[in-house]
Amino acid sequence: MCLLGAVCFETSAQELFTHNTTLLVDSDRRPQVSLDGEWHFIIDPYGSALYSWDGHVRDDSYAQNAKPRNDGFPVEYDFSKSPLLKVPGDWNTQKASLFRYEGPLWYQRDFQYGKKPGMRVFIHVGAANYRAVVWMNGHRVCRHEGGFTPFDCEVTDSIKDGANFVVIAVDSTRLADGVPSLQTDWYNYGGLTRDVSLIELPQMFVDNYGLHLDRGTDSEISGFVHVVGAPAGSAVQVSIPEVNATTTAYTGQNGTAVIHLRIQGLELWGPGHPKLYRVRIAALNDELTDEVGFRTVEVKGAQILLNGKPVFLRGISMHAEAPYRTGRVCTDKDVQTLFGWVRDLHANFVRLAHYPHDPRMTRMADRLGVLVWSETPDWQHIEFSNPHTLKQAQQELTEMIRRDRNRASVIMWSVANETPDSLARTSFLDQLVQQAHSEDPTRLVTAALFMPPLIGGKRIVDDSLGAALDVIGVNEYIGWYQGRPQDADTAKWVMKLQKPIVVSEFGGGAKAGYRGSSSTRWTEESQANIYRHQLGMLAHMPQLQGVSPWILMDFRSPSRNLPGVQDGFNRKGLISDQGKKKLAFYVLQHAYASGMLDHGKP
Ligand code: GCU
Repeated sequence: MCLLGAVCFETSAQELFTHNTTLLVDSDRRPQVSLDGEWHFIIDPYGSALYSWDGHVRDDSYAQNAKPRNDGFPVEYDFSKSPLLKVPGDWNTQKASLFRYEGPLWYQRDFQYGKKPGMRVFIHVGAANYRAVVWMNGHRVCRHEGGFTPFDCEVTDSIKDGANFVVIAVDSTRLADGVPSLQTDWYNYGGLTRDVSLIELPQMFVDNYGLHLDRGTDSEISGFVHVVGAPAGSAVQVSIPEVNATTTAYTGQNGTAVIHLRIQGLELWGPGHPKLYRVRIAALNDELTDEVGFRTVEVKGAQILLNGKPVFLRGISMHAEAPYRTGRVCTDKDVQTLFGWVRDLHANFVRLAHYPHDPRMTRMADRLGVLVWSETPDWQHIEFSNPHTLKQAQQELTEMIRRDRNRASVIMWSVANETPDSLARTSFLDQLVQQAHSEDPTRLVTAALFMPPLIGGKRIVDDSLGAALDVIGVNEYIGWYQGRPQDADTAKWVMKLQKPIVVSEFGGGAKAGYRGSSSTRWTEESQANIYRHQLGMLAHMPQLQGVSPWILMDFRSPSRNLPGVQDGFNRKGLISDQGKKKLAFYVLQHAYASGMLDHGKP
């Protein structure tokens, strides 16, 4: 259902908006023609060019990139004379006129292409927030809903040798039945927010694969390779040259080959030793290489084991907000700056909230040995009773897992954040937890739960979703949203389930540079004070296996409007959006450097 008054594509309970897309694993490792750069744009505030009056996508308007002419039906647009936007990037922080724009916006660019005989061509979109429709030379090739996961669409039949034009309509309208839904505590940045490119593939190619170290071993690697179009019995070779390991397996009826390798002396991936191996996959005329780390992650009682050993997650939460310039993270520089700060904190874990981040983030985490919590945007109130919303959430979960399945850094999939405990909600999320376990039995599944109320002086973590989760995430804001900072000193936590607990959010706000007493809200001293009391409490919290305080850096949020303090930013960052470290940064840095929380665990 659309926002009141907004025209948009009506979907039925069963039908998803996403159509005719696939997701090519490791697209960033494929030979490609980048379409990043400057694209013309036209805004379409009433959606009259994108949607017909009855809510269907129109192919007869801007998609055709027509040129104004003197006869026939008047053409009332001209991309070649229209302004430009950079891709990748959100549109809101590129143009003051688009800062608060939510709705349909059309992108168009021309490009030259040299068609190669026998090759198939896909257009790859790293992410488009929120809905997107793609046309190649006027032919519609696909639609996609979901603002934080990639999609690939075949253009082999619509792309030409020589001059081409591509048009992508992106509609950032928030939808009640969407994932996320109408309200978020982050900025709804619209646009082609991640890389766009053309990927060339042979007729039969690897579109999906997974390789992992079997739990309980340090030498058994298992997995699968799926080859599109491969007749049964096709050979698939997987090799890891550095350890002289090669295996050949054969595809079944469904194009999938089951892989198994035994490797002695494998160096396992982990914080402090982020060993990545170059893996080469060859099948028929296709070849794919990737850098993969091998590690196991599992729970044992209330402990998280990494490569069989207990690990404590010294973490920090992050939004995909670009440092200094703000807007969506989409460059290597953004990622280097953010992870530079993670390292300064002596953190070994990041919670990428509340949606899958740019693939550069998980690649960097792989290289640096930083553990990752990756999450789908089932944030607070979504339509848990709406079958369409469930299908959309399932699609986004599948896409998140498929994109980062081979990232050793990702140890947990989170299916939700702060969702009110109800039958409809738990049945909805239970299905996502089962889906995550079946699509990826090698990782842990979690969710960030609301802080339990204070009952008889105790906070009892007893959420109906807990039973399904491997790791229980709890958000708590003692000293900010609830009570005074010192209340943490006497807080009593009771965990109903014998499972690892991660305090996935805690903290408070401060305006960088605002100094004063620790009892004055918004001063750096007051935030640091909250952290000191929190760390004292957490050091004694039962079953605590990790923390990811809220949050590394201040980020834009439309609901944070205290003048002179927030001005459109959530100020719970330990670092301001302009890179100024607040006092609390050093409180947490010291706690992590001294091992205050992890009681000697690595
Ligand atoms: C919530 C929520 C975050 C939000 C934070 C806050 O717990 O999960 O998305 O930004 O609290 O209020 O700052």
